[in-house]
Amino acid sequence: MQSFWRHSVACGITAKTLATHVKGVVAERVFIGGLLHDIGRLIFLNIYPDEFNSLLNKSQSLGLFLYQVEPKYFGYTHAQFGGLLAKTWNFSDRISQLIHHHHDNFKTAPPKEVAVVYVSNWLVNAIGIGSSGENGLPRLNMNAWKVLGIPESLLQSIVKQIDRQIVEAVRFFYE
Ligand SMILES: [Fe+2]
Ligand SMILES: [Fe+2]
Repeated sequence: MQSFWRHSVACGITAKTLATHVKGVVAERVFIGGLLHDIGRLIFLNIYPDEFNSLLNKSQSLGLFLYQVEPKYFGYTHAQFGGLLAKTWNFSDRISQLIHHHHDNFKTAPPKEVAVVYVSNWLVNAIGIGSSGENGLPRLNMNAWKVLGIPESLLQSIVKQIDRQIVEAVRFFYE
């Protein structure tokens, strides 16, 4: 459970940090989207712990990602389910969309805030902070990356900035 929240807090902080480099993105909104993006997974795990764990093993043995096998068992991916939950809990449509689309394979440029949360989740998984429950990393969707307009030369310093902020935030989260 701790690793779930470490992943979630890291994603929120990453989204907030990326937002400072992307015009027209509300940092607070993408922070909330990042923090809650995997909430559907937490609910699946709490309501159906045995089924969810066997699904996790199954997806790993098939070499698939969780979101590729979830619809068959739950009717939704954890991303879609999380987006629906956010609506039920009266979060704004925009926040619900950030959660809903965090595993999409975008064929065209997504809205900037959706791209920020998507890329943040990808980055946090790539860096390996906390656990997303997945065993592997899908290819970064370039339509989402390009819409941010962040030069690749800046990426290393942004990752360092994110790293520092995550260490601080995770410490306070458990203090
Ligand atoms: Fe996810
Ligand atoms: Fe995630």
